Amino acid sequence: MRLSLLLTAAGAAAALILAGCGAAEYSTEGNRESGKQLFIARCAGCHVLAAAGTAGTIGPNLDDAFAQSRADGLTTDTFTQVIRDQILYPIEDPVTDATGMPGPDETLPECDDVEGDAFCVEDRQQAVDDIGVYVGAVAGTGVTTEKPTDGKSIFATTCAQCHTLADAGTAGTVGPNLDQSKPPKTLVTDRVTNGKGTMPSFKDSLDRTQIEAVAEYVSSAAGK
Ligand code: HEC
Ligand code: HEC
Repeated sequence: MRLSLLLTAAGAAAALILAGCGAAEYSTEGNRESGKQLFIARCAGCHVLAAAGTAGTIGPNLDDAFAQSRADGLTTDTFTQVIRDQILYPIEDPVTDATGMPGPDETLPECDDVEGDAFCVEDRQQAVDDIGVYVGAVAGTGVTTEKPTDGKSIFATTCAQCHTLADAGTAGTVGPNLDQSKPPKTLVTDRVTNGKGTMPSFKDSLDRTQIEAVAEYVSSAAGK
């Protein structure tokens, strides 16, 4: 999978050079800080990336995905290109029963297409460049940010993408609106530990203290 993605990216880059075409031109312009914030808001729920302190388990661990290629000498620019392609053209519905990755209309909807206060970006291409440059620079480098230990920060980096919780300022709609369902602490602990349906288990990526902290936070903040 990793190899074929890299090959595709290399092929696409070569085709662009041949065609001299500017439309989808690869850019190293991108704002890393903005890329980090976007990653946490839109990708963290599904991917581990140690530099961002994220714990999602639905998609591949991005440090693992890029560490070997980095060791093999592939450069950050190549990763940036691979990541941009993955965001813009993921396989949303694999033919096997593997889980796909949602397309850009879902991960980075443009504000022109979004109503209300749901998440959106003004300029998708810029957002893709920012995320590509950020993830390309940090994935598989061994750089880590301590995963947060306070419940609200854990929620923001791990749960926000899928759940609405006004106290945390999040508006995810994949899972239940927690202000409405007001789950008791035992239920939060159970879901975070064991997962259910589309919600993955976090028991391998959050430790007990973190699960306890996020459960305490959600059960006390929901519905406020
Ligand atoms: C709902 C879950 C989900 C979200 C949200 C998501 N991804 Fe993914 N991602 C996946 C899955 C599942 C795969 C594996 C399937 C595939 O490679 O297409 C994947 C694959 C990837 C890969 C390829 C990794 C490899 O091993 O080659 C990259 C890079 C990636 N995602 C980056 C991102 C970025 C950046 C975002 C945010 C814009 C994001 N993902 C959002 C689920 C998700
Ligand atoms: C990839 C999306 C996703 C992520 C990330 C996610 N959840 Fe969920 N969550 C769901 C879905 C979907 C359900 C509904 C599961 C079902 O009942 O089938 C759910 C259910 C729940 C419930 C039960 C709510 C109820 O009323 O039934 C709680 C509590 C909960 N999640 C908390 C969390 C917390 C805390 C985190 C972060 C540690 C988190 N979730 C991360 C998707 C997600």
